[in-house]
Amino acid sequence: MQALGRLRLVLWLAVAALVVVVAATVGYRQFDRTTTASADGSALVGGPFTLIDGDGNEVTDADLRGEPFAVFFGFTHCPDVCPTSLFELSAWIEALGADAERMRFAFVSVDPERDTPERMKLYVGSFSDRILPLTGSPEQVQQAIDAYRVYARKVPLEGGDYTMDHSAFVYLMDANGAYHSHITYGEAPDLAVGKLQELIGTAS
Ligand code: NI
Repeated sequence: MQALGRLRLVLWLAVAALVVVVAATVGYRQFDRTTTASADGSALVGGPFTLIDGDGNEVTDADLRGEPFAVFFGFTHCPDVCPTSLFELSAWIEALGADAERMRFAFVSVDPERDTPERMKLYVGSFSDRILPLTGSPEQVQQAIDAYRVYARKVPLEGGDYTMDHSAFVYLMDANGAYHSHITYGEAPDLAVGKLQELIGTAS
């Protein structure tokens, strides 16, 4: 009887594990679809925006078109994800060598309250002069966040300060400003560089 009871427990655990796997798979597919493409396969990521570069000049989505570009969102007060992403992106640019000139790279602030053009220029410039720093008014930044379906949320900290919770995809857009693919946070460097080479058409 005791063996039968144990068997029943094992079967129940197997059913529970299966439910978790199915739920995770369905959830992931749903997430992937809603963040990158609509049901007919056309991409939803990307669209019009007007932002301000590190010198205070207006930059629109039209200015970025003509060459493929990589864009990701973050903020200069970010404790780890953004500095890591910027560091990795700088390394990918190095790895591309002269081919990096075939595309553009942009870092868009999700924290316009604190990220002034001057601050963005200093911060992003400390990683690479090939990455275009972009910020703007709260309304301008919100337009870019909405266009790229970026998740960004203010999280209050003790003492009245705040941090930003945000998604960490690097979106790879084609020369027409249409979604091509993306690089996830922590992706292996050779895979990431391979995706960039594929984007600019220099993959071997
Ligand atoms: Ni960050």
